[in-house]
Amino acid sequence: MTTARRHYHITTFGCQMNKADSERMAGVLEDMGFEWSEDPNDADIILYNTCTIRDNAEQKVYSYLGRQAKRKHEKPDLTLIVAGCVAQQEGEALLRRVPELDLVMGPQHANRLKDLLQQVFDGNQVVATEPIHIMEDITKPRRDATVTAWVNVIYGCNERCTYCVVPNVRGVEQSRTPEAVRAEMEELGRQGYKEVTLLGQNIDAYGRDLPGVTPEGRHKHTFTDLLYYVHDVPGIERLRFATSHPRYFTERLIRACAELPKVCEHFHIPFQSGDNEVLKRMARGYTHEKYRRIIDTIREYMPDAAISADAIVGFPTETEAQFENTLKLVEDIGFDQLNTAAYSPRPGTPAALWDEQISEEVKSDRLQRLNHLVAIKAAERSQRYLGRIEEVLVEDQNPKDTTQVMGRTRTNRLTFFTGSINDLKGKLVKVKVTEVRAFSLTGEPLETRAAMAV
Ligand code: SAH
Ligand code: SF4
Ligand code: F3S
Repeated sequence: MTTARRHYHITTFGCQMNKADSERMAGVLEDMGFEWSEDPNDADIILYNTCTIRDNAEQKVYSYLGRQAKRKHEKPDLTLIVAGCVAQQEGEALLRRVPELDLVMGPQHANRLKDLLQQVFDGNQVVATEPIHIMEDITKPRRDATVTAWVNVIYGCNERCTYCVVPNVRGVEQSRTPEAVRAEMEELGRQGYKEVTLLGQNIDAYGRDLPGVTPEGRHKHTFTDLLYYVHDVPGIERLRFATSHPRYFTERLIRACAELPKVCEHFHIPFQSGDNEVLKRMARGYTHEKYRRIIDTIREYMPDAAISADAIVGFPTETEAQFENTLKLVEDIGFDQLNTAAYSPRPGTPAALWDEQISEEVKSDRLQRLNHLVAIKAAERSQRYLGRIEEVLVEDQNPKDTTQVMGRTRTNRLTFFTGSINDLKGKLVKVKVTEVRAFSLTGEPLETRAAMAV
């Protein structure tokens, strides 16, 4: 053992699930006595928590990794770890490609980081990618934010969308118990957190793997039940959740969201395509009509709700007319935000093997046209905020203008206004909106509520 403090660095790619995993892994490393280093070049342990959802995400990992593998030749005691979805997808092959690696660990192994590192320090090169039951988190995450926090409720995915690597790399669905979720939220409330985002790949599929059936024959612990069970945790003022799958988004869930005051009026429900034939080939399990009905029902209960989604263009066999059905859906619904992507063929997925791939030119042309429409629709949606009074939970200083703070409305619009972060961090402030842009707002503060539950 050396006496000098050893440092670690984590770079996280990909989705909120990976970010939450990184916070837990950072917690493990701190618990082991390591200290955070912002600069990877000052670190003794480097962990890349990786994403493989599209090819460009995966390639980014290799370029980062190449640099640190080189550094290891000058600093042989450097510990190099690849965690997350690329680790799971590539496994042993990653060691052949980058022999300098010490540890390759899939997402299900995040909570086992301490054990795995011990094996590395004993002189082993370790690959941990076998499917396992995810252990309850016994460590304390090192959370990046102090006002908002993520809480995992379900890991994995049981769907089989024909374009997607997630089921291969994240494994089958594993729901945490309602008690474990609530306990973590209560701890967050005690620590002064104000907002919790519940996380899952398909969060509304929560509970299908937990025991128990109601007399009416439905699962005893659905996501709706979970919301009722956790909504009154002291100190937590706002609840959000992501990502929702249209297949499991019930009217009962919508009613719960309308009824429970802490649940914010923002729903992230990816539709992927506005064309039924494409949806079928994607194996999404719904039609665009069903998707529209869900959004209509949400708006019946919560007329001002913000809706965001993900969409893919250029899926194999997608015709111009089918793509136009996606444009039509976007036009009709009016999303507050849409994450768009050109289809990327992924190893181990059915659609990657189909003959009818769409050319890069057509994909990028469709992506541009869709993005253009999204920006127009989002700007239109923003107009409704002008002059309105919105409740903003202050998270941070505006990095571009330190006289301003920033936070989010209940509908998840980023909002800036003049104020001091020292006074306002974690406060709920009524803000009169004076300026609107497609994806953010500016306003003037009216009154501040000390966001402490009495
Ligand atoms: N479970 C969520 C989405 C998780 S993956 C759901 O089913 O809605 C996040 C997003 O990445 C997806 O919504 C999809 O739009 C995009 N994505 C997944 N695989 C992709 C691929 N092969 N090419 C392009 N985009 C992809
Ligand atoms: Fe991927 Fe489909 Fe699962 Fe979402 S539901 S993670 S898109 S397989
Ligand atoms: Fe990427 Fe894995 Fe998330 S592939 S999008 S980090 S589940």
